[in-house]
Amino acid sequence: MRDGTVLVTGGAGYIGSHAVLALLDAGWKVVVVDNLVTGFDWAVDKRAKLVVANIEDEATVRRTMRDEGVIAVMHFAGSVVVPESVSDPLKYYRNNTVASRALIESAVACGVKHFIFSSTAATYGIPEQVPVSEESPKQPINPYGMSKLMTEIMLKDVAAAHPINYCALRYFNVAGADPQGRSGQSTAGATHLIKIAAEAATGKRAAVSVFGTDFATADGTGVRDYIHVTDLAAAHVDALDLLIARPEESHTMNCGYGRGFSVLQVLDAVDRVTNRTIERKLEGRRAGDPDALVADNSRILATLPWRPKHDDLETIVKDALAWERKLAERG
Ligand code: UFG
Repeated sequence: MRDGTVLVTGGAGYIGSHAVLALLDAGWKVVVVDNLVTGFDWAVDKRAKLVVANIEDEATVRRTMRDEGVIAVMHFAGSVVVPESVSDPLKYYRNNTVASRALIESAVACGVKHFIFSSTAATYGIPEQVPVSEESPKQPINPYGMSKLMTEIMLKDVAAAHPINYCALRYFNVAGADPQGRSGQSTAGATHLIKIAAEAATGKRAAVSVFGTDFATADGTGVRDYIHVTDLAAAHVDALDLLIARPEESHTMNCGYGRGFSVLQVLDAVDRVTNRTIERKLEGRRAGDPDALVADNSRILATLPWRPKHDDLETIVKDALAWERKLAERG
């Protein structure tokens, strides 16, 4: 068992619940703070403690930090639907930026030494160059990306002023599910391609819309860097070790595999795995979709011992499908 506890906000959600598994498997004690608005209590591994609260509930959060001996925060809680952030920006600035401010303040007040933040490739907006490095211009094109970028900026200033260091991890397209079937993407109303394709493959929806066929890519459909959620969770555990080993340093790193697949390549992979053909509906572009978004992942590879273990599109699809079937059985 490691010395100290990690507080995971949003640990009942998709990525957070996988980080909880990775931390527990690595020997950490874990306490989850989640308001269960989009997360599920059953998604939190029983080895972790669950506190149902908002992260801006200072009394509860600070009591938890002190009582549980929290040495680090992994912060996943927040709102994540890009189009919703456009129609309701204040929700995103409240749930992502303002709530993060309160959480960071609690961490500083309680002497928590390390902070890992769930950031996003949406901080880059439409990239000028692909693969995108961390030094590329940060020009978010929606309030979601801006709300996350503002939190990165707060962390930078706070780490300069207080004895806390941080790692901001900018995720590319997270997909798949725990290979052992312990967690997966469960929130209803999916908008993410691989989740939607898994729903189509299990009969939950009739077809998959292909948003845009005239992008500047090999087959005309959008290209993204899909990363398996279990690899992403492992990067957080390694980032924590780095923050502990080098308390004077903070880091910002892309999390991706450095290669992209088009929408049609993803759907072809689903067909290969299921031995069936999903119906494709060719439609117009969604607002704000870049042609291609692929990580330059040289920094994370140079900084952490982290190496992808599930970098295979069919594996990602297979794990996503297995979880989708499990959800279907649950009803
Ligand atoms: N797509 C379809 N049909 C669908 C859903 C998606 O064709 O039903 C396409 C999109 O147009 C895009 C690709 O599949 O080309 C991936 O779309 P997702 O919605 O799965 O993911 P995004 O790339 O739009 O979003 C991801 C993250 C966001 C982040 C965003 C921008 O999930 O959190 O990248 O960096 F904000």
